[in-house]
Amino acid sequence: MLRATLTGLLLPAAAALECEQIHQDDRIDCLHGDEDSCRAASCCWSPVDPNPGNLPWCFFSNRTMQSCTLGGDVKEPFSDAEVAEVLKLFEANLDAEGSGEVMASPDHATGPGGDYYFAWARDGALSMHAYLQTKGLKGAEEKMEKWMAWVERSINQPDPNNIDILVEPKYLIPQGTPYTGGWCRPQNDGPGLRAITAMALAAEKPEAGARVWELVKRNLDWVAANYSSETCDLWEEVRSTDFFWNRYTMRKALILGSRFAHSVGKDEARAMKYEAAESRITEALSGHFDSKSFVIESTNRQKDTAVIEAFNVGDMGDGYCGSLTKPVIVTLSGLSDLFCKSYAVNQKAAAAGIPGVLFGRYEGDSYDGGNPWVLLTASVATLLYRQAQEFPTTLMGSEDKEMLKKLLGREVTVQNLVGAGDALLLLMKKYLTNGMHMNEQIDRNDGSLKSAKDLTWNYANVLKAMNARKAALATTTLVI
Ligand SMILES: *[C@@H]1O[C@H](CO)[C@@H](O)[C@H](O)[C@H]1NC(C)=O
Ligand SMILES: *[C@@H]1O[C@H](CO)[C@@H](O)[C@H](O)[C@H]1NC(C)=O
Repeated sequence: MLRATLTGLLLPAAAALECEQIHQDDRIDCLHGDEDSCRAASCCWSPVDPNPGNLPWCFFSNRTMQSCTLGGDVKEPFSDAEVAEVLKLFEANLDAEGSGEVMASPDHATGPGGDYYFAWARDGALSMHAYLQTKGLKGAEEKMEKWMAWVERSINQPDPNNIDILVEPKYLIPQGTPYTGGWCRPQNDGPGLRAITAMALAAEKPEAGARVWELVKRNLDWVAANYSSETCDLWEEVRSTDFFWNRYTMRKALILGSRFAHSVGKDEARAMKYEAAESRITEALSGHFDSKSFVIESTNRQKDTAVIEAFNVGDMGDGYCGSLTKPVIVTLSGLSDLFCKSYAVNQKAAAAGIPGVLFGRYEGDSYDGGNPWVLLTASVATLLYRQAQEFPTTLMGSEDKEMLKKLLGREVTVQNLVGAGDALLLLMKKYLTNGMHMNEQIDRNDGSLKSAKDLTWNYANVLKAMNARKAALATTTLVI
């Protein structure tokens, strides 16, 4: 009896000490909302008020967050035969019904998103660019022609939703007219992305120059005049006049557009106009770096992997948000940590000593439960491969290098950066259950494939990652 009383008195004090030793960031929610039920479950109770980071007040005393590492050995994530299979699935979603349009997914009835069988301006432009990059002009020419013709048709029709046709997000297949149901409109990333892809075609096929210039002019005149207009974000959920994704990809479109205006359009006035708009955008982009140089997508969507996709899609090779710069490394590291802790699949991998992290969209995402996304995990792999390729010729700051080293858990070398990209893709591939078919999401708890089937953007990003890997290996003397 005495013994029981003593234990009853002493244990809470001892437990409390242990509890306070668990760092706030390492606490795992024990899922009890009040002190009594929390203590009854032998969990730790420690209110956090104010609590902007949404930390658990009740957390396990015997389990803490595992930290993830990206440090893996170089190991080909997809064989040539598997890449060919991915390409086949990708190609099946292009030129839908002979319309030239790119379907987001063939899935008519998916989870909470409903029907994905529509042509999004953004997905289409990104996918066709990836297609051209992957197959080269000869292999991609026919479908590129169809897509160009569709884009020309799409922006030269009246708009049924009373917005500018250039910023319509989504179109019917095969009619090619804008979707007229309720939707988050407008989305102002389309014009710049279309222009970038069309100019990539002209770079490979100079005879298409005049035709591409007509398209570029129309789209970039809009961007130069309206880049700061209010828009929905690329996830079609929140509104702002200033998303990093939109601004950074517009920046690239305007830099390329200014050169194109000069060389092909012979239009000096436009070349100057695009350049002037670009420098205003670049100036405004500095507002997206927080005090630690973490890059925020927008004030209402701070931690968002959209910025990593932007680092890849909008890179001009001019050092601004280059792959090995401080903002990019800080952001990569911050998001890696966020998603490592957000998803049980990542925690399980970490506990098992498996390197890699599956990346989701943004902090607090709850769409279909809030899960890792295939296209974003592939995008982060692309960034790591780009880092590998650029590492030998980049002079890095020592602090930045130290942070990257911590993320890898290894020395920063070409080999280890390629290994990190491989770790991400291999972890993602572990959850594929039907050949190379890839759904939009991977369940955060059990790793099952979720939401839209055969998402076109997934395939585009996996192919881009594998292209970037090949480029990294080709430009280095890496011995595997
Ligand atoms: C950890 O703590 C929880 C909650 O107090 C308890 O249910 C669980 O059995 C404990 N696990 C181990 C391995 O001790
Ligand atoms: C800018 O946007 C407005 C509103 O959509 C549109 O009327 C105008 O034509 C656009 N400017 C250019 C140059 O396209």
